[in-house]
Amino acid sequence: MVDSLRFDNRVVIITGAGSGLGKAYALEFGKRGAKVVANDLGVSRNGEGHSSRVADIIVQEIQKLGGIAVANYDSVENGDRIVKTAIENFGRVDIVINNAGILRDSSILKMKDADWDIIMSIHLKGAFTVIKAAWKYMKQQKFGRIINTSSGSGIYGNFGQANYGAAKMGLHGMTLSLAKEGEKNNIRINSITPVAASRMTEDLLAPEILNIVTPEKIVPLVVYLCHESCNDTGGLYEACGGLITRVRWQRSPGIFFSGQFSAEDVQARWREINSFETTRLGNPDYPTSTTDTLKKVLYLIQETAKPKL
Ligand SMILES: NC(=O)c1ccc[n+]([C@@H]2O[C@H](COP(=O)([O-])OP(=O)(O)OC[C@H]3O[C@@H](n4cnc5c(N)ncnc54)[C@H](O)[C@@H]3O)[C@@H](O)[C@H]2O)c1
Repeated sequence: MVDSLRFDNRVVIITGAGSGLGKAYALEFGKRGAKVVANDLGVSRNGEGHSSRVADIIVQEIQKLGGIAVANYDSVENGDRIVKTAIENFGRVDIVINNAGILRDSSILKMKDADWDIIMSIHLKGAFTVIKAAWKYMKQQKFGRIINTSSGSGIYGNFGQANYGAAKMGLHGMTLSLAKEGEKNNIRINSITPVAASRMTEDLLAPEILNIVTPEKIVPLVVYLCHESCNDTGGLYEACGGLITRVRWQRSPGIFFSGQFSAEDVQARWREINSFETTRLGNPDYPTSTTDTLKKVLYLIQETAKPKL
């Protein structure tokens, strides 16, 4: 099949491009004509050590395949330096894929402050610093595509990952706000929650599952989301072993107390509050803003005030 989704003259920053998912993205963007800034600090799974070799190797691989790439060895916590590499080498930045990440798993009582802080710093602050530095260029050129890498641990929770889960859910919160900020300047930002074989998952998933959930099966979603033809923004997409889905918030019809009410009233109606069945208050719905919630309250106040026949 012809690769019709091309990225000629586009500059893409991929953080953590030296292994796992980042490497798979970098090779594909290189093949599709993008100029790739391959960032990688070259650390271990839990963020120790560092090596410039990791970024150098992926750059060589892209070049061997006829692509254009430059390495950057900074930590994502210094996003401005990564963007500087893009500007100095290629003069622009069109796409940012926030992918770099590490793990510091432990149950809450054993979790050290340092394990909390480093996860926030690399996943959340790292994405912020790269986006912030790239944003002004994207705004000027009225084009930008950004991917934040969330995780099932963030959107569903996972034992021993309070730090990682908080950062990963935080990334989607950032996506939702920036989707609104970027709208008028054609800056689109989406979150993905991948499941893929990498050193992060090699001891968590069975070998037969690892064979199915290859990083290459995440790549097409990311490539499409970053293309100029894709205008969706603020989405959360799950990708795993060939399955690609969109995830959204669902709100139960709930209960509306029109007068004073107490904790006992909440207790008495708890089952209904938690139910996603259709009730006389309506169907479960899919809110996208707090305004939706306020509108619903105002509507219910009006309805309750109407004289009963
Ligand atoms: N593999 C999965 O199933 C899965 C699931 C959910 C989310 N994720 C997320 O996907 C992303 C990629 O994960 P992966 O599985 O490919 O892991 P990986 O460990 O193979 O790759 C991560 C890369 O990020 C680099 N890195 C780490 N800290 C860095 C820093 N401060 N600055 C620059 N580079 C840094 C590492 O050197 C490494 O090359 C991560 O954000 C991870 O949390 C992965």
